[in-house]
Amino acid sequence: MTVHTMKVLVTKKVYPEAIDFLKQSVTVDYAANEEGLPPQELLDRARDADGIVSQLTDRIDAAFIAGLERAKVIANVAVGYDNIDVPAATARGIRVTNTPDVLTDTTADFAFALLMAAARRVIEAHRFVHEGQWRTWRIDLLVGHDIHHRTIGIFGMGRIGQAMARRAAGFSMRILYSDARRAPGSLENELGLEFVPPETLLAEADFISLHVPLLPDTRHLIDAAALQRMKPSAILVNTARGPVVDEQALIEALEQGRIAGAGLDVFEEEPRVPDRLLALPNVVVAPHIASASIATRRRMSVMAAENALAVLAGRDPDNPVN
Ligand code: DGY
Repeated sequence: MTVHTMKVLVTKKVYPEAIDFLKQSVTVDYAANEEGLPPQELLDRARDADGIVSQLTDRIDAAFIAGLERAKVIANVAVGYDNIDVPAATARGIRVTNTPDVLTDTTADFAFALLMAAARRVIEAHRFVHEGQWRTWRIDLLVGHDIHHRTIGIFGMGRIGQAMARRAAGFSMRILYSDARRAPGSLENELGLEFVPPETLLAEADFISLHVPLLPDTRHLIDAAALQRMKPSAILVNTARGPVVDEQALIEALEQGRIAGAGLDVFEEEPRVPDRLLALPNVVVAPHIASASIATRRRMSVMAAENALAVLAGRDPDNPVN
């Protein structure tokens, strides 16, 4: 079977370059919607597809994979792939791919933006001016927390964790990190990293930034006990995945002033953000947009299309996860 007779389902809107690229070689079933397909329609259209370009809102679980008749590849337009049951795909001989690297710096930029916004009360200040509350310069008006020369604790020293560390180094911060695996000594030296147990990181960091994938081991990594260990002045930043944090425990810690604030791009049940979280002035929220620069989202779209086509053409994809 030549690639020209194959069909690729693109489950949701992507940048047009990706569609143009695919159309040069395969038939494209493009569900060009913003919301994502309902589960049954998604399966109905995926059933006879040779390739699927999916997004993190598509739940591709074992039951879904069992319903696929021809799929050879599922190319996720994201670096994370916790929406896909990878072992089930592997068992069916289906390749899974992701979009690493292109979003590393963009995501770290945004994690640092959340950190800064929460520490320096940028959103509160913006609101304050908009609401006409500004009367005069005042010594303690909207005072926040310094960032420079303080301590950041990074969970996960992968690509994005390292990019976050580079930014922190630029702010003369002490950089602690925890990871299942210790980084090479050369990287520790280059970035001035201190490898510490999670308890030390939690107890000593002024800012804690999460850069781990969502795995059984990292689900609720930040739970009530972890929050209890954090300094009352600590600020938590999450651009990883919502379920890495126990959201209820976080809300309680914030309401009781047991930590100072949070910058959150991801939530446990997206797009639902609990009202109690929204009621807190010291929490900066965003709708899962850490990788959302125009250039990066374009690149992610094309990269997923390239990965899908590589597999269909019998080549190894650049970004395999199985
Ligand atoms: C990812 O790539 O996993 C992000 O969550 C979306 O860019």
